[in-house]
Amino acid sequence: MPDDAGNAGMAGDAGPALSGALAGALRDAVGDIASASTLPPECYTGADVLALEASGLLRRSWLGVARADEWREPGDYAAMELAGAPVIVLRDEERRLRAFANTCRHRGTRLLEGRGNAQRIRCPFHGWTYGLDGGLRGATRMGATRSFRRADMGLVEFRTAERGGFVFVALSDETPGIDEWLGAFDALHAPWRLDELVTTRRRELEVECNWKLFLEVFNESYHLEYVHAATFGDIYLEPERPDAVGGCVQSSFSPTAGTGGLKVDEQGHALPFMPGLGPRERAGTRYTWVFPSLTFAAGSEALWAYAARALGPTRCRVTQWVCFPAETAAAPGFEAKAERYYARMDEALAEDIAVLERQQLGMASPFARAGRWSDLEQGAAAFAAWYAKRLPGA
Ligand code: FES
Ligand SMILES: [Fe+2]
Repeated sequence: MPDDAGNAGMAGDAGPALSGALAGALRDAVGDIASASTLPPECYTGADVLALEASGLLRRSWLGVARADEWREPGDYAAMELAGAPVIVLRDEERRLRAFANTCRHRGTRLLEGRGNAQRIRCPFHGWTYGLDGGLRGATRMGATRSFRRADMGLVEFRTAERGGFVFVALSDETPGIDEWLGAFDALHAPWRLDELVTTRRRELEVECNWKLFLEVFNESYHLEYVHAATFGDIYLEPERPDAVGGCVQSSFSPTAGTGGLKVDEQGHALPFMPGLGPRERAGTRYTWVFPSLTFAAGSEALWAYAARALGPTRCRVTQWVCFPAETAAAPGFEAKAERYYARMDEALAEDIAVLERQQLGMASPFARAGRWSDLEQGAAAFAAWYAKRLPGA
């Protein structure tokens, strides 16, 4: 795995300092769930905070960006925006996933758009051409340029890592190693064999809320009986205490009456259990948040995961992945059966999004204030405390 492939990730500067009032409110958000406040509304509405997040927090984090099976062949690439920076993630000739700044080393043009397959990366402006290792292969008419060496002009590279079938990218050399970031992630998720699952559905959508609100609602069970009462709220029982994962990961197991992957009236249509799950894992769903940008639910038959990226203070792009064991996905009739899972995810999303967009509207009020947590909001509170400690100037 190319964990240490990076050579030149650059940390952004920390940007402007926070106001005294905001810094004080962030200090109130640090602490255990019983005593901490929620993050102040400015964290969900302000362009200043968004810029500070990008430069001082996201660019110093491991960002969960995708499932590894989105890149199958050498040359498969995807262009994406991470923490305000255009980035290319590609599979190189040795089949390793690598990440580069999507910025030409000549005069800065964004090199690739969207997704596709390419054996060379060719700049549309003056034709500089890079290999899949980021090295500059071709640049015409540079013979008169003093001390010009192609070897000095490769693409800026970032570290990548694969864990549990997820792809992570770190944009700064100051970010700790992936093992430190993930703590006991591997051991905790071993029963689900996450890296062997195959993606059967990938969907992108835009939501009119701050990126943190989207991830928070996935990591608290307080809203289930109010927002999801008609769909699956009754299936979820009292969640267990969060596990001690360490690193920058929050995880807890939610016992369920039936499968959390299907609606309450569709429980008879469950697909087979994932191989390797014991009786305990078969009777619930593990909810995990790899701070800051990736969260997932490891259920008894399926994995469903979300990554959220800011498009502005009050708007985000969300990617959804639904994954199953390869043998489940290869069995006859799988597609029709999986549709019931997808429909459950879509209905849950619609219910969540309706309330998230109202939450965002209320947050915009000049009279909005930081609130307090219920003990059913462990994941959201843990993230808030983590974030409040790390936002520069807090
Ligand atoms: S900007 Fe890329 S070749 Fe000139
Ligand atoms: Fe929800």
